[in-house]
Amino acid sequence: MRTLIKNGTILTAENEYKGAVLIENEKIIALGLINECKADKIIDATGKYVMPGGVDQHTHFSALCNVGNKDTAGYETTKSAVVGGTTTIIDFAPQDPWKGLIESIDYRINVRAKGKACVDFGLHAMVTYLMDSIFNEIDMLPAKGISSIKIFMAYNGSPLHVDDGSFFKILQKARNVGVTVFVHAENGEIIDFFRNECIKNGQTEPKYHYISRPPFTEAEGVRRAIYLASQTDTPLYIAHMTCRDALKELLEAKGKGIRVSAETCTHYLTKTKKALDNPDFNEAAKFICSPALRDDEDCIALWKALSKGLLTAVSSDHCGIDLSELKQAGRDNFTNIPNGSPGVGDRIHMVWTNGVVAGKISKQKFVEVISTMPAKINGLYPRKGTLEIGSDGDIVIFDPSYNGTVKLDDNPNGVDYNVYEGNKQIGRVETVLLRGNVVVENAKYVGEIGMGKYIPAKMFAYCYDLC
Ligand code: URP
Ligand code: ZN
Ligand code: ZN
Repeated sequence: MRTLIKNGTILTAENEYKGAVLIENEKIIALGLINECKADKIIDATGKYVMPGGVDQHTHFSALCNVGNKDTAGYETTKSAVVGGTTTIIDFAPQDPWKGLIESIDYRINVRAKGKACVDFGLHAMVTYLMDSIFNEIDMLPAKGISSIKIFMAYNGSPLHVDDGSFFKILQKARNVGVTVFVHAENGEIIDFFRNECIKNGQTEPKYHYISRPPFTEAEGVRRAIYLASQTDTPLYIAHMTCRDALKELLEAKGKGIRVSAETCTHYLTKTKKALDNPDFNEAAKFICSPALRDDEDCIALWKALSKGLLTAVSSDHCGIDLSELKQAGRDNFTNIPNGSPGVGDRIHMVWTNGVVAGKISKQKFVEVISTMPAKINGLYPRKGTLEIGSDGDIVIFDPSYNGTVKLDDNPNGVDYNVYEGNKQIGRVETVLLRGNVVVENAKYVGEIGMGKYIPAKMFAYCYDLC
């Protein structure tokens, strides 16, 4: 099967030029000036951008919420990623209760995702039940194609929390086998203190979520994580960075030549803590995620950090947590609201609209932060994250002339709300190819549920090359 996409403008992290892309047997076999060639299918991309499929390196499908005992929406709902232009996710593989890392990874690939995933996916190992055996399991991650392990410095009092001693041991182990350590960096102890104070004082509404997680608790977590990682010379990747104080720590560390990189997420670029001041519990609870949303100045600083290359990627931190059921657990006590919001299907549209169209980042930077860098960081480049001969035929055809608003009905995400509902959307993902197969046409999913594949990663990925 040969597919030719012609008359479009090819957009990559480096370039923008008129040309065509030819795909055969799932791979790109030619691109640029292709005059006449035989193809089984021809797609006319006149007036459209042709770019690599998005890579979202921070998603939580089919995973236990940090509060309660119900899973987030499952892999069949990854079709919302595809409709939003993301063809690869690097999903978290939390340990199943008191199981090892490897057993949980195998179960995720062979049961949770099998026959359901609509996107290609890699995995991050994720420590959620500290037990002695997991340290030795780090040695086995390369054989499974897992190039990263995530730990939580936050969430004290839940099994997710990793103490500094265990964190240090994980850093040492990961370094030896070329695995990057991803960290949720917040000072869990101080947050715990603030949360307890709030509840003691009867301060139970959602806005106390951000009041009990001030920016310094994130900045301190970032500084400590960087310091510990620098002692073992382990490349560190900081998840969901949100604020100016944390960015200062990142800048200082990079200036010292420490191997650290960081991402931010769509919601930290486009939403503020004002969303939590809403007296309507349901409206506020949608936006409960950690770290908490910040203020306008932080949004401005995050866009600047992206455009200057201080931040490396934009992820969704997608969590399919129902409002009508799961989020209600915290109606009388904000500490019981499960953390996380959906957004995998909106990331590309929101970064284009609020970044490129608003003049905050270039089109090349856009491709870099939503596709190319996440593929590099996670050892999937150049198979994913770019348009090159030999890359997978994962392609987005993007219509920049679309002018509308976000509607959940246009791209259902498996839960009962979209945090971007009613937001302005300029430009739209119109057609998507996954390994050469057309899976989105006219902005609607036309693929088969379960066609997404597990993609093993290469070790010693991008973060090992820094400095
Ligand atoms: O609030 C968030 N981010 N929820 C998902 C779990 C995590 O911390 O990444
Ligand atoms: Zn996190
Ligand atoms: Zn997350």
